[in-house]
Amino acid sequence: MSTTTEDDGTGAPPVRWGIIGAGYIARLVGEDIAASPASAVTAVAARSLGRAQDLAGHLGAPRAYGSYEELVLDPDVDVVYVTTIHPGHHAATLLALRAGKHVLVEKPIAMTARESREMLETAAAADLLCVEAMWLRLNPAVVRAQEIIAAGEIGRVRGIVADSSHVFPYDPAGRLFDPALGGGILLDGGVYLAALAWLLLGRPDEVAATATLAETSVDAAVAMWWGYADGRFAQLTASSISEAGSQAVVVGTEGWIRLAAPLYRTEELTVANAAGSRDESHPLPAGNGYGLQVAEIERCVRSGLRESPALPAAATSGVMEVLDEVRRQIGVLPPADPA
Ligand SMILES: NC(=O)c1ccc[n+]([C@@H]2O[C@H](COP(=O)([O-])OP(=O)(O)OC[C@H]3O[C@@H](n4cnc5c(N)ncnc54)[C@H](OP(=O)(O)O)[C@@H]3O)[C@@H](O)[C@H]2O)c1
Repeated sequence: MSTTTEDDGTGAPPVRWGIIGAGYIARLVGEDIAASPASAVTAVAARSLGRAQDLAGHLGAPRAYGSYEELVLDPDVDVVYVTTIHPGHHAATLLALRAGKHVLVEKPIAMTARESREMLETAAAADLLCVEAMWLRLNPAVVRAQEIIAAGEIGRVRGIVADSSHVFPYDPAGRLFDPALGGGILLDGGVYLAALAWLLLGRPDEVAATATLAETSVDAAVAMWWGYADGRFAQLTASSISEAGSQAVVVGTEGWIRLAAPLYRTEELTVANAAGSRDESHPLPAGNGYGLQVAEIERCVRSGLRESPALPAAATSGVMEVLDEVRRQIGVLPPADPA
């Protein structure tokens, strides 16, 4: 794999990326960045230089750093992509913003709404981008579902029933189960459900939640009910200990739309109403599927936008406020972060 530096046809120089963290998602999204004609991966940083060198070599990035601090000082980096485990997002993002870099940060943007607010406010004050990598909002099947809704094919939207579940082997020291590593399924698969409900329904008027906790006291399974004063609803379940379909159904007064599993990277939908039902296929871009997210950041950087219209800060911080409330109700929100 080599990072692309040839002209992308616009005559504009490539957007130059630095990647913080060299783990699972850094490699997948890094490959899609490197494959984009409008981008180049300049540098990779990891806590260990060897890991940074491995990923930099794989992506064809010319530089590797053994600390995040060194990467944000690199003058040839325009955008820092923060890929650490969730508890590292806040510090790495502030580090990059304070060094004058735009930021794309993995989901969830942070551990809490308070952290998220500080990151977004810092970016706004510095006239920089800070975008959460909530790629579900750019997903072609999700965009198509919004068009189908707008065309009135399922009548008025009454609610959404959505699930994100997959059995993960219990590992008390793993990032899904260790509280110190940001454990809990709500902030992992659950954030996609919240982002989808926010996208289709907006801020809820009431939230109720219950959870099954793992031995490590993080949420292993969580059920949320979002209520709206006009009677709409979101019924959302996320689990690391059971399988429940990992799909979403948008419920309308005259029909429904199903977004197929796995919801976080859905590519098929079914629409059903009195006229019958049909299936549609809306594949993610080639590569690892993250190309639309890469393109959105390229577009924002090149056009001088300081917020992505498709990945707006208000939705990011609104979702975090709801997740804080859910975590308060299920007893996993640290006392320092009351909702
Ligand atoms: N968009 C998506 O489809 C998607 C998919 C998976 C994950 N994610 C998100 O991406 C983020 C990373 O997930 P991942 O699966 O890539 O995680 P990962 O590979 O387990 O870890 C990512 C990086 O976090 C740092 N890290 C790991 N353990 C640490 C520890 N104990 N203390 C401090 N830092 C540690 C490491 O950075 P160094 O390399 O610097 O050591 C590691 O490379 C999460 O926030 C997750 O929600 C997104």
